[in-house]
Amino acid sequence: MLISKNSQSIDGPSLKRHFGGGQNLLSLWIAEPYVELAPEIVAALGERAGQGWYGYETRTHHVVGSFWQWMSTRHNWQGGTNRTLISPSVGTSIGVLLQTITNQGDRVILQPPVFTDFKTLVNANDRQVVRNILVLGEDGYKLDLEDLEKKAADPATRALILCNPHNPVGRVWTPTELSEVATICANNSVFVIADEIHADITLEAHRFTPFATVANQAGARWAALHGPIKTFGLAGVCDTLMITDDDEIAERFQSVSSQLHLTRNNVFGLAAFEAAYTQAGPWFDEFRALVEHNAALLRHGLPEEVGLIELEGTYLAWLDFRALGLEVPELANWLALSARLALSPGHWFGREGAGFARMTLAAPTEQVADALERLHRAIATRQRSDREEHDEL
Ligand SMILES: Cc1ncc(COP(=O)(O)O)c(C=O)c1O
Repeated sequence: MLISKNSQSIDGPSLKRHFGGGQNLLSLWIAEPYVELAPEIVAALGERAGQGWYGYETRTHHVVGSFWQWMSTRHNWQGGTNRTLISPSVGTSIGVLLQTITNQGDRVILQPPVFTDFKTLVNANDRQVVRNILVLGEDGYKLDLEDLEKKAADPATRALILCNPHNPVGRVWTPTELSEVATICANNSVFVIADEIHADITLEAHRFTPFATVANQAGARWAALHGPIKTFGLAGVCDTLMITDDDEIAERFQSVSSQLHLTRNNVFGLAAFEAAYTQAGPWFDEFRALVEHNAALLRHGLPEEVGLIELEGTYLAWLDFRALGLEVPELANWLALSARLALSPGHWFGREGAGFARMTLAAPTEQVADALERLHRAIATRQRSDREEHDEL
């Protein structure tokens, strides 16, 4: 797969803001594909642009239908009888759901280290974050179910934001783990907001389990967030979906969306959404194979001082730099200045992420190989200067 011609220059302003910018900085920090996107989608957008008419366009049932067709064939999830509502972004859905399900001051459980926007949204809505920290053991990250049960039992706790597959630690939660979460939440009347935006990107034998399929048995209340934005790299153009089997939640969500007029269609969004789910499957298969290939390269090519948390899903590798002993700002600075790598520093995802960094593998293999070389070189330089310092003493 080819490198996207534009991704390195387009994220230039944020590269400068977060990593100091400058020459030869390799950007692998954003959770989106750094490759050329599906030609079918690009053609559909070009075709729509060529129509020269960009007024109001009604969303036909084919748009949402294309998503359910994809879910049915790719994940064996026949969920089309659920309520499926349109939302401009996953973040919008989380905000609207928090306002729908919880009241000011209520507690909302997050499972850090986790995608940064969750905390921002909970705080912005005047709700309180409760941390059910993921536990890192010999065989990777696990949910702390005992702690979840304790936190869920607090009557002020009203919701859990679950991330599956999990950004940034790369877990694809198993049906058993999800059932346990569903049971705990059902027993304690905690509503589950399942952010499943990375659902399509699972690696090797790992399979995505929709929370919906375990929730009903346990009696848990839920809403799931989906859409083509991560799978096909369409965050700048497409809407997302809020899915639930709960009529009351769907009505309230619809009502807030109407009050704020969040429902206008973007003509390009409509074209890209449908083209993605109906035509871009072969591109996606190739893309997923690329991510798997890059993950294997990383598994065998990292310097021994850097650990790799086994990647089950998402295209985000979670790298363990703790052996270098760098404190929070130093690790990010060392990566940017010494390795010339723009990676997301782990502390962005909560204090539990300190000492880690997240790197996207949704990039041409040459770039991942380049990133590995940069890490090797920067570590060798660091070791040399440590030795010289030691010799001087
Ligand atoms: C788990 C997860 N949820 C949501 C988002 C962002 O979605 P949106 O831009 O639609 O709010 C991301 C982006 O990286 C993500 O990784």
